[in-house]
Amino acid sequence: EHDLNCLTLEELEAHARTMMDKQTRDYYNEGSDSNTTLRENTTAYSKYRIRPRVLRDVSRIDSSVPLFGHINSVPLGVAPTAMQRLAHSDGELGTARACKKAKVAMGLSSFATQSLEEVAEASEGNPNVLQLYLFEEREHSRKLIQRAKKAGFKAVFLTVDTPFLGRRNMEIRNQFKLPSHLKVKNFAEEESPVPPEAVDGEGDSGKREGMRPKMQRKASRAGYTEGNRRVPPSGPITFHSHAPNPTLCWERDIGWLKQECGPEMEVWLKGIATGEDALLAVHHGVDGIVVSNHGGRQLNGAMATIDALPEVVEAVQGKIPVHVDGGIRHGTDVFKALALGADFVWVGRPALWGLAYKGQAGVELMLKLLTDEIRLCMSLAGTTSVKEISKEYLVKMDNSGF
Ligand code: FNR
Repeated sequence: EHDLNCLTLEELEAHARTMMDKQTRDYYNEGSDSNTTLRENTTAYSKYRIRPRVLRDVSRIDSSVPLFGHINSVPLGVAPTAMQRLAHSDGELGTARACKKAKVAMGLSSFATQSLEEVAEASEGNPNVLQLYLFEEREHSRKLIQRAKKAGFKAVFLTVDTPFLGRRNMEIRNQFKLPSHLKVKNFAEEESPVPPEAVDGEGDSGKREGMRPKMQRKASRAGYTEGNRRVPPSGPITFHSHAPNPTLCWERDIGWLKQECGPEMEVWLKGIATGEDALLAVHHGVDGIVVSNHGGRQLNGAMATIDALPEVVEAVQGKIPVHVDGGIRHGTDVFKALALGADFVWVGRPALWGLAYKGQAGVELMLKLLTDEIRLCMSLAGTTSVKEISKEYLVKMDNSGF
């Protein structure tokens, strides 16, 4: 039943490390600048300890939570991460099938290497969320939103922490490029179909030719100014050119997005990190927020998400759901986040490590490890349902312990 080579996410990470080529490994694992926030996302959990209660008949545990009208088997989903076929040819479809099997929600990045329609089909009714970068050229975003609606996505997660891309030095040094046999499929309409022999998806630096010369010529980077005039991105839609949008703002954009999504899809903000912005999110009528710092890839020096969570929970006062992501690597981390008031958590890199290790089966393994850990933690702490998990189960240690 167990994979004796891989009993923890730490071991999964170590396996993945050996399976990925350098460009992919660095792209997936690094944070921004000196990686302080990346590290703290994980280590900040150790400031908290659990206060277990005993003699409570924990022979039956219900770890499920409702989400988007479905039952999620555990309060955890797979966060949207870009370009999953870099890790393994199963890519986003592998992740989708693993999530379906485990009955957990999946977030799909706009910059996926398989299309949202393909992913929706592979999910067979399992609830999905489309992560959205709202582009300066609205028409592209409008099309994507309409497609997601048609494909049955439950919500869009608008990423709000990326007016510019954080500085990721290894990515710069490696001159990161999507290998020519992979495509950002949601925006690939005008591109020629991929020849079957070119599809393997495994990391192989020998095959990296990068963008075609035409694309290199045409792509311009977002957010740079010529004199006083902003130059919006033009040319093919790439992560580097189009994801960052420094013009996004509360007044104009949130209303627009809610209107585009209509009653069919919820609108969530991903990347809220303060109580003030959480209040504004409530004020602007969004359906939920994800406390996130993009896995430490945007503003380095920002608070660890578990440290930002309490002020957000306090500000929101239960008016809308609050989710959190960043650095979650153990079932006990999930328990701690919920005890601090989160309704649900998302994991990003662990799914990529799973993919790199064994494709879909690796993501299944990752989800199984975390599910087992969550359920075991709940029982050992004396809780039989998710709604019982509260502040009473946690104590914050002072610095003397560290
Ligand atoms: C991300 N993340 C991300 N977020 C987003 O809104 N759109 C995206 O396209 C991506 N892409 C992406 C790629 C890679 C390689 C990573 C590691 C992360 C951020 C992601 O959704 C999530 O916030 C973090 O990954 C959570 O932190 P952990 O679990 O990776 O520590």
